[in-house]
Amino acid sequence: MKSATRVIAVDPAEPDPVVIREAAEVLRKGGLVAFATETVYGLGADATNPEAVARIFEAKGRPANNPLIVHVNWLRMAESCVTEWPDTARLLAHEFWPGPLTLILPRSGLIPDIVTAGQGTVGLRMPAPDVARQLIDELGRPIAAPSANRSTCVSPTLATHVLDDLEGKVDLILDSGQTEVGLESTVLDLTTRQPRVLRPGPISAFEIQHVLGGLHVHQEFREAAVSESGAFASPGQMAVHYAPRARTVRVSDPADLLRIDWPAKSALVVCGEPELPQFEGESGPAQTFLLPELEMAMRELYVVLRQCDSAREALIVIVPPPDRPEWHALRDRIWRASVEWATG
Ligand code: TXA
Ligand code: MG
Repeated sequence: MKSATRVIAVDPAEPDPVVIREAAEVLRKGGLVAFATETVYGLGADATNPEAVARIFEAKGRPANNPLIVHVNWLRMAESCVTEWPDTARLLAHEFWPGPLTLILPRSGLIPDIVTAGQGTVGLRMPAPDVARQLIDELGRPIAAPSANRSTCVSPTLATHVLDDLEGKVDLILDSGQTEVGLESTVLDLTTRQPRVLRPGPISAFEIQHVLGGLHVHQEFREAAVSESGAFASPGQMAVHYAPRARTVRVSDPADLLRIDWPAKSALVVCGEPELPQFEGESGPAQTFLLPELEMAMRELYVVLRQCDSAREALIVIVPPPDRPEWHALRDRIWRASVEWATG
């Protein structure tokens, strides 16, 4: 059954305490509240309430085997969710929290099975924006929140994205504008002998390694991993994920852009600063989005992909950024959102 979704605008610099209290009350009663983190909007529920968390899976159409990230507002709250708080966690939380880094650790009894999909571990992070932090503070408990999109769709970086996907399925959306970073957090497994990046994100394996005094941090070459059919340690890392509805292809060689049969409704998305060929007459894409610089590309990629879907583009063509470490997270998402363009 659909119920009304309320949207309330909140000033990200100075959230109205009355609104925060109201949102916390919705959570306390087992409801769902979408709110902005620095990465993407999250679909939040009281992490200690299994019935409320079940509503998240239902609203998103998310498979029950895909665990949720738990958001905390202070270190003591983080420690209450786990049975171990190793030195690696201490160092990384000190350096990167609040921020876009999720740490996987052995979970405590505070976190119900449904949150972690029955796994013995929990993913924890402390988000940066005041709205998110004050909401957790006001609730006084950790908030479980996946990205606030329908399962396998592009993550939301605007409140309208959440409404497009989840209207009638979320009780309240706190609209505090566009998220600052725009790409989901780095997920780091600290339960293995060597820390492992399960999802590349805004904080790179290199930065993590540096803070851990050079301790080797394992990261698979995601583009390769995506095309395999094997299981991933992080169930959310499915090959088709973060995908627009339009047919989406990537071309590694920009010269191939001239060989594409562009439909009338088509868009070209260029990441980085590759040299582009000259299209003759009407033979090119109907519109082009240029994302030359890293931070801007992370912030805008999902906005652009969702805009293409709203415009009902028939084809989206992406030129991925160069294969350099700083671009890896963006390449990972592009590989999940698209298939390689092939002739014929
Ligand atoms: O930036 C983000 O991380 C956003 C904001 C809202 O915090 N959240 C987010 O959540 O992207 P979600 O559910 O869309 O993606 C979480 C990822 C999934 O790939 C999931 O499988 C993985 O983290 N994950 C969560 N808990 C895990 C665990 N205990 N072990 C392994 N992977 C886990
Ligand atoms: Mg997600």
